[in-house]
Amino acid sequence: MAQPRVNSPEPLLGATLPHIAYGGDYNPEQWPEGVWQEDARLMQEAGVNLVSLGIFSWSRLEPAEGEFEFAWFDRVMDLLHDAGVRVDLATATASPPPWLSHRHPEMLPVLADGVKLWPGARQHYCPSSPAYRTAARGLVEAMATRYGKHPALAMWHVGNEFGCHVPACWCDVSAEAFRAWLRDRYGSIERLNEGWGTDFWSQRYSAFEEILPPRRTPTWPNPTQQLDFMRFSSDTLLECHEGERAILTRITPDIPVTTNFMSFFKPLDYWKWAEREDIVSNDSYPDPSDPRSAMRAAMAGDLMRSLGGGRPWILMEQTTNRVNWRDVNVAKAPGQMRLWSYQAIARGADGVMFFQWRQSRAGAEKHHSAMVPHGPVDASPSWKEVVRLGHELGRLDSVCGSQSRADVAVLLDWDSWWALELPSKPSNRVRQVDQIETYYQPLFDRNVTVDFARPDHDLSRYRLVLVPNLYLVSDEAAGGIVRFVESGGTLVMSFFSGIVDQAEHIRLGGYPKPFIDLLGVRVMDFHPLTIDQEVELEFNDGKRARGELWSEHIELAGAEAVARFSSSELAGRPAITRHAAGSGRAYYLGTRPDARTMERLLQMACADAGVEPAAEMPQGVEAVRRQGRGRSFLFVLNHREIEVDVPLSVAGQNLVDGSDLRPGLMRLPPRAVAVIREGW
Ligand code: GLA
Repeated sequence: MAQPRVNSPEPLLGATLPHIAYGGDYNPEQWPEGVWQEDARLMQEAGVNLVSLGIFSWSRLEPAEGEFEFAWFDRVMDLLHDAGVRVDLATATASPPPWLSHRHPEMLPVLADGVKLWPGARQHYCPSSPAYRTAARGLVEAMATRYGKHPALAMWHVGNEFGCHVPACWCDVSAEAFRAWLRDRYGSIERLNEGWGTDFWSQRYSAFEEILPPRRTPTWPNPTQQLDFMRFSSDTLLECHEGERAILTRITPDIPVTTNFMSFFKPLDYWKWAEREDIVSNDSYPDPSDPRSAMRAAMAGDLMRSLGGGRPWILMEQTTNRVNWRDVNVAKAPGQMRLWSYQAIARGADGVMFFQWRQSRAGAEKHHSAMVPHGPVDASPSWKEVVRLGHELGRLDSVCGSQSRADVAVLLDWDSWWALELPSKPSNRVRQVDQIETYYQPLFDRNVTVDFARPDHDLSRYRLVLVPNLYLVSDEAAGGIVRFVESGGTLVMSFFSGIVDQAEHIRLGGYPKPFIDLLGVRVMDFHPLTIDQEVELEFNDGKRARGELWSEHIELAGAEAVARFSSSELAGRPAITRHAAGSGRAYYLGTRPDARTMERLLQMACADAGVEPAAEMPQGVEAVRRQGRGRSFLFVLNHREIEVDVPLSVAGQNLVDGSDLRPGLMRLPPRAVAVIREGW
C-alpha cells in the first residue's frame, strides 16, 4: 500500500480553495440542462464554492460496458468552473448500473442467511467481486483521465459512504476471499485452529477449504471467526477504496483523495481507513428531536479531527432541514442548521457541505431536504439560512487550517468494539458508543475538549485518558496505558476492560489481568444489572449515588475505595476505586454511575490531571478553541432557545458579524454563535 500523503497545517485544499468549503452533493443528471444554469446562478447567490459531483452518475456516464458518455458531464464541469465553483469529483462507483449486475449476477451481495440483495436501490455489490472491482476501476481510469486536468477539479471522492447498506457479504466469492485473508493472517491451519479455539464444540478444521464466513448457524458461530470476519470485511472494502485510489494517485498525484465517513460507524475500522485519506470527511445527520444531538454531533466531529491526526476535516453531508429515513422526520428549528454547521467548524471542520444541492423530484429521496428546496426558492426560510451561512463563512478564511488542542483522550478501538458486542456475554446491554457517551456528555457540558485515540497510540501528549470500555486489548496497548499512568497521567477506566486478547481469548490470571497492578483491584465476579435494576452507591464523604447496567465483586489490591456499593449482595464492597501508580493515578469504575455522579468523578479526574475547559460558559453554551499561525479563535455556540449572557475574558473580534468585543458579558440570542478572534 502506498503511504498517505501528509497535509500541511495550511488550508485543506491549499491555494485551490483557501476558504471554508461550502456546498453539497450536486446531481445534475436528475434535471434538464436548463435547470443547470439556474443552479450555477443560485450557487453564486449562496456563496457555494465546492460541490460533490457524480456520486450516483455511473449509469449515465457509462450506459453500456466500456461505452462512456462524457459530453454532458464536460458541460457540467465547465459550467461549474465558469461559476467559480470547485469540484469534489466522485469516482461514481457507489451504485453499479443495471447492465453490470445483469451481465454478472454473481456480483450481487448475499446476507448471512443466503438472501441475495438485488439491484434496484444502490450499493448492491459484493466488495470481493472481481466483476465489480474491474468495472469500477475501468470507470475510475476513464474519469481520472478525462477530468484529471480540469481546472474545476479540487479533490476526489472515492465511492460513497463505504459500507452503508452493505458492510459485508457472505457469498461464495467472499468465502474464497475470506479464506485467502485468513491464510495471510494465520499462515497455517494449525495456527488458525489455535486462534479460533476450535477444540470447543468440535470445530477443528483440517484445511482452509473447509472454512466459511460466519453464515447463519444453529446458534452462535465461533466468536473469533466472527471477529475475523468483521476485520476482513472492513479490510475488503478498504481494498476497493485502495484499488480506486491507486488509479487516482497515479494519474493525478497532486489531487487529494477523500471518502465520506459516517461518524461512529461500527463496520469500518476508521483508524485504518483514515490512514488512507488525504482529507477526512464525514456525514452527520443528528436528529433534531433528540436532546442529545448537539453532544453526539460534537463527539463525531472530535472523532473526525482525531482520525485525521488533528488536521481539519470536511463535513461532507448534513441536511438543511428534514431527512427522509427516520420514522418521523422532524424539521430543524430556525437557526439550527446554521448553529450545527458552526459546531462542525468549531470541532475542526474546514468545510460544510450538504446532501444535497437541489431537492429531487423523483426517486427515494425526494422528501429529503436540500439546499434548494422544491417550493418557491426565494420565499423559503431554509434557503435564506443557506444563503446567510454561505456569506458568513466567507468571513472565516483566517480560521482555515487552525487546529484544536485537547488534554483529554477517549480510547476507541474497533477490534474491541466488535468483540464487546458479539453475543454470549455476561450482558448484551454493554454497548461501546453508549459507554463513550456516558463519559463524553459531562465533558461536553463543561466544554472540556476531547480527542479520540487508539489504545496503542502514543498517549504521552495527554493529561487524562478515559477508557469507557476496552474489553479486548493487545499487550502493546495495555503496556502503553500502564506507561501513561506511571509517567504521571490520570486514567479513568470502566468495568469489563482488559478481559480478552486479540484472539478474543480470556486473559487468565484474574480480571482485568493486564490492569490489576495498575488499578490495584481484582475483580472476582461480574454482577450485570437488568434494565429495571440499579445499585446504590455511597461515597467516602457520605454522598449517595446510583449505578446501573453493571456491578461487580471487587477486591482491593492496593487501591482505595472512593465509593462502595450500599445495596445488593455487594453492599459494603468497593464500587469505584482510585490507585496511585508511578507518578500518576488510575480510577476504576465497577458500575455505570448516574449522570451527576459521572460528572463529579470526571471533575475530580480533571482536577487531578490539571485539565481546564476551553472556557467557563453558562449551561447549554458550547465553547471550543481553534489555534494556528499565531491566531486563536474561540467558538461560542448557544444551543438554548433563550438568550444568554456569556462571559468573555479577553477582547476580540466576532468574525461572524465583524463586531468588536470587550472583556465582560456578551449577549447571545437563541441558537446564535460567535467566532471570536481573540486578542484582536
Ligand atoms: C447518505 C448518502 C446520501 C444520501 C443521504 C441521505 O449520507 O451518502 O447519498 O442518501 O444519506 O440522508
